[in-house]
Amino acid sequence: MNLILLGPPGVGKGTQAKLLIDRFGIPQISTGDILRAAVKDLTPMGVKAKGFMDAGALVPDEVVIGIVEERLAQSDCAPGFILDGFPRTVGQADALKGVLSRQGRAIDHVVSLSVDQQELLKRLTGRRACAKCGAVYHVEFAPPKVVGVCDACAGELYQREDDKEATILNRLKVYDEQTAPLIAYYQGFGLLRSVDGLGTVDGVQGAILTQIQA
Ligand code: AP5
Ligand code: ZN
Repeated sequence: MNLILLGPPGVGKGTQAKLLIDRFGIPQISTGDILRAAVKDLTPMGVKAKGFMDAGALVPDEVVIGIVEERLAQSDCAPGFILDGFPRTVGQADALKGVLSRQGRAIDHVVSLSVDQQELLKRLTGRRACAKCGAVYHVEFAPPKVVGVCDACAGELYQREDDKEATILNRLKVYDEQTAPLIAYYQGFGLLRSVDGLGTVDGVQGAILTQIQA
């Protein structure tokens, strides 16, 4: 199954993608995770991307399209994939369509998650991630057993650089201006599956499964 998870920062794309990996045995492709790893490793791409990411702006299309094209060509993506955080512009969506069609593939479903802005702010300001294994927590909604320590690997939890309130507000604006038009774009292709992102993580997962297995 070839899936796209679409939605604003903090809506729960990464959280839901992790559950879908286990269920369908297909990999998650998160352009945000790939870019953060490049920033951490100080690769040329990471050095170029860092300024955009810290400002809450989008990294240029040609950079992220290259990342995704390369990743989709890997063998573990043959049975399917979950795109999380890509595409984010109409240009990226057109490029994805071209890449997949050259490989004789196509997107099956675009799951569009939504919650109100107040909830997004709460989710993003309270998010913490494990520096060692990448597990994601929330200080209120999904707290670790010991404050600041990962349940899975005892790694240290940190707050993402772009989860500071001023940067969050810019990310939400960028989403409205550059990414939200993809809702109509995919509706036009008959691929859009709208899901309310408010509720428990398992409740939202159930709603997604209902939409994509119907
Ligand atoms: P990226 O990493 O993709 O960030 P994002 O889209 O802003 O999404 P987030 O990771 O912030 O949120 P999410 O929806 O995954 O939510 P999560 O599950 O963590 O991108 C970062 C940056 O990289 C961009 O700003 C840009 O610079 C660059 N970039 C990436 N892709 C790009 C592209 N394609 N083009 C150009 N630039 C690109 O959940 C959030 C919190 O809520 C967590 O704490 C979680 O525990 C909690 N939570 C989740 N579900 C629930 C629930 N049901 N109830 C209560 N709490 C919940
Ligand atoms: Zn960990």
